[in-house]
Amino acid sequence: MTLTASVDTTLTEIISGTTPGAACSPDLVAKPWVFDLQPPSYGPGSSMGDVIPAGSPRQGTLPAFYREASSEELDRRIRSAKETLGDRLVILGHFYQRDEVVAYADYVGDSFQLATAAKARTDAEAIVFCGVHFMAETADLLSTPEQSVILPNLAAGCSMADMANIDQVEECWEQLTELFGSEADATGRVPVIPVTYMNSSAALKGFCGRNGGIVCTSSNAETVLKWAFERGQRVLFFPDQHLGRNTAKAMGVPLEQMPMWNPNKPFGGNDALALQSSQVILWHGFCSVHKRFTVDQIERARAEHPGVRVIVHPECPMPVVDAADEYGSTDYIRKAIEAAPAGTTFAIGTEINLVQRLAAEHPEHTIFCLDPVVCPCSTMYRIHPGYLAWVLDSLLDGVVLNQISVSDDVAAPARLALERMLAAKPPIAAGA
Ligand code: 13P
Ligand code: SF4
Repeated sequence: MTLTASVDTTLTEIISGTTPGAACSPDLVAKPWVFDLQPPSYGPGSSMGDVIPAGSPRQGTLPAFYREASSEELDRRIRSAKETLGDRLVILGHFYQRDEVVAYADYVGDSFQLATAAKARTDAEAIVFCGVHFMAETADLLSTPEQSVILPNLAAGCSMADMANIDQVEECWEQLTELFGSEADATGRVPVIPVTYMNSSAALKGFCGRNGGIVCTSSNAETVLKWAFERGQRVLFFPDQHLGRNTAKAMGVPLEQMPMWNPNKPFGGNDALALQSSQVILWHGFCSVHKRFTVDQIERARAEHPGVRVIVHPECPMPVVDAADEYGSTDYIRKAIEAAPAGTTFAIGTEINLVQRLAAEHPEHTIFCLDPVVCPCSTMYRIHPGYLAWVLDSLLDGVVLNQISVSDDVAAPARLALERMLAAKPPIAAGA
């Protein structure tokens, strides 16, 4: 197997001193199973210190055979299982997965594309999702009851998704209902429409389904907010404050009409007046990977590479999005690079696995990550060929390991919120 864009290799070289550079944690060169049994941290790197919520599924010990197998042995096993299982198996890989895993994916894409791929492959008995927990839950919601969705490592969560839990959101909703009531106005718009980012638990998607709300991804957030404003006087947006703020600002919502909701304070830490005039109430959540990007990095990139095109993900803080030339979802970034004339220089503000892969796939351009410190998403990092070989070998034995299954009471309303999203207009290009 030839890998041209392995972040694992880059990290190993940086940490051993054979390549200059900096990594956010030396632990990132360790194999992920070292961290599976070390609660409560999510793992090394950008999400270090994030506490795994009490209810999160935990990964048990990966059998010694898979921990000790060479990469050649794992490669042989994964390829052989894929061949034997044929169309009964589909492997989905998010853009942020390590190259060593992407090599086996039948579909590689952003969270929206992978959700639609999961829905389309009704012929596959097993959907192995190389991504994080909320993505596998979404695949389970959109697939048929006969299909099994498998997350190779249960410790692959998302620290941002875990910043809003169902109890906190229910409590927030109670307070908002107390303040605004629930009656529609003369135009038929209800006081609040809940909108959850795809990066959230199925329980929150279910909450949106039950309360007239909807799901969005970073590629359709503006379309979804328009949908919500047609039906509501204001939006409660969770869990990512940055995606909510950046999208609403681009649509002309003034910043002073976007109060932040801190779940640990009464009325989210707001006075009733500020909430009365709000258009978008932003949950106090963020992505620890995208929070690393700064305006200073953009200024440095422009000073060192005159003419550089700076594109960032909308999970970055607002000053970074404002300072960039463009922003958009992972797929927007990929397409912008594909469409550019040869010889373009890009500074990209998103997860390093995708940036390094795009750089390898496009030698006609110069592509680098805005953040000079190599710091992959520490939960995406939890998926490794060792776990993939383990769950595939088990499938060959007729055993479904690490199945992600959303309970029926949550699934029905969560599916409704997702179907509303899929029925909303197709994703639009993000703004420049
Ligand atoms: P996309 O929706 O662009 O795939 O992003 C998912 C994600 O986790 C970004 O941090
Ligand atoms: Fe979650 Fe951020 Fe990792 Fe995406 S990059 S999975 S939002 S922690």
